[in-house]
Amino acid sequence: MTGTRKLLIVEDDLGLQRQLRWAYDGYEVLVAADRAGAIDVIRAEEPAVVTLDLGLPPDPDGTTEGFAALADILSLKPETKVIVASGHGARESALQAIADGAWDFYQKPIDIDALGHIVARAFHVHDLETENRRLAARGGGPALGGLITGAPEMIKVMRTVERVAPADVSVMLLGASGTGKELLARGLHEASRRAKGAFVAINCAAIPETLLESELFGHEKGAFTGAVKTTEGKIEQAAGGTLFLDEIGDVPLPLQVKLLRFLQERVIERIGGRRPIPVDTRIVCATHRDIDAMVADGSFREDLYYRLAEIVVRIPSLAERPGDAALLAKHFVTRYAATMNPAVSGLSSDARAAIDAHDWPGNVRELENRVKRAVIMADGKSVTAADLDLAALQDSAVNLRAAREAADRRAIRQALARADGNISQTARLLGVSRPTLYDLLKSYELHD
Ligand SMILES: Nc1ncnc2c1ncn2[C@@H]1O[C@H](COP(=O)(O)OP(=O)(O)OP(=O)(O)O)[C@@H](O)[C@H]1O
Ligand SMILES: [Mg+2]
Repeated sequence: MTGTRKLLIVEDDLGLQRQLRWAYDGYEVLVAADRAGAIDVIRAEEPAVVTLDLGLPPDPDGTTEGFAALADILSLKPETKVIVASGHGARESALQAIADGAWDFYQKPIDIDALGHIVARAFHVHDLETENRRLAARGGGPALGGLITGAPEMIKVMRTVERVAPADVSVMLLGASGTGKELLARGLHEASRRAKGAFVAINCAAIPETLLESELFGHEKGAFTGAVKTTEGKIEQAAGGTLFLDEIGDVPLPLQVKLLRFLQERVIERIGGRRPIPVDTRIVCATHRDIDAMVADGSFREDLYYRLAEIVVRIPSLAERPGDAALLAKHFVTRYAATMNPAVSGLSSDARAAIDAHDWPGNVRELENRVKRAVIMADGKSVTAADLDLAALQDSAVNLRAAREAADRRAIRQALARADGNISQTARLLGVSRPTLYDLLKSYELHD
């Protein structure tokens, strides 16, 4: 990226120029004293951020030169973040400058710290926009585009994934089954610099221990009975791309040692092979297990954990995302109706109530399966609670109680998650006593 750290200060007061140059020594500071000088710097250096004094010679007391400079800069480099400085009481012209495309403004006299924050934010936004343009230019739209959510907790997760995608750090996704771990892992790959490379997924829980090593590392012909030809492992297949180790918590200890060695040295040896093969791949892993507890009790190696979990992303369960079940249900109805039962166009009100009241222990995967089946089963225009195989909530009294219970469960689960399972802290978050919390956990069967 050109010019990401370059800051241009357009200011005719030499004293101020010097002061600003000194104040922003974290950037490559360029200065210009008038419009022509500013344009020269814009052409030659392409600074990301410009602070522009509106009162420039030959009209130092007016704003015509400043506005002309602003227009010139934006027509040359529209992505430049221009921060306009206006004299005391010149709010009108500052607002006009924003309307003309300036990014922000500040009023003189200059407060170095306040301006510093505006400048830092301008660089940050410029970097994000540059990155977004880069991703968009690559085609295919945003990498996490297929992910549906309206819940702030989940949006935070998406932002984190987008932010860490370009860096080559290892990422561990933690979440219950069906929360979208694989979807996020793919999105991370798509948003990374390795998007052109392969995304190779291996489910460590689904493969018998005896085969897992050969699946991961590959083997040479004749390495063991049945090894009739030399075969590349998943790690090698992911060279240049991303390796997704799903259910990492299920990798047995001996294999954990081998994985650790690979992560340390970035070379593998196929089973029965004699030569080390260097492999450049990015590791993303996921588990529904309590990996911290596994590290604590020694069933998962701590040193491996730290290699795999440079960034840890916790994915909230569907019950912790208010409104998402309904949103996703609508999405899946539309999607599956199109191919499986075009007569269906929506959800009945009893279906919506039942979706709201249900706990969704299987999260999005359960919801998707239920809706898919319901769309096929539906007789009428709408999917009903019966089609979804969810008990319809009969009368309003039951309905209200069920709704309250569902809300209670949600609140308790959210608090438990936030407190990492600590009971005292959970009780405090919920504003109830510990014995009350224990009673609630028992009656809702929430303890596991
Ligand atoms: N937010 C979402 N928006 C749209 N579809 C989603 C969302 N989350 C999950 N899905 C869909 O739900 C299904 C389950 O998601 P995924 O396989 O990513 O979950 P997982 O956490 O890996 O589950 P498991 O633990 O069962 O392997 C997939 O079909 C996925 O496309
Ligand atoms: Mg999965």
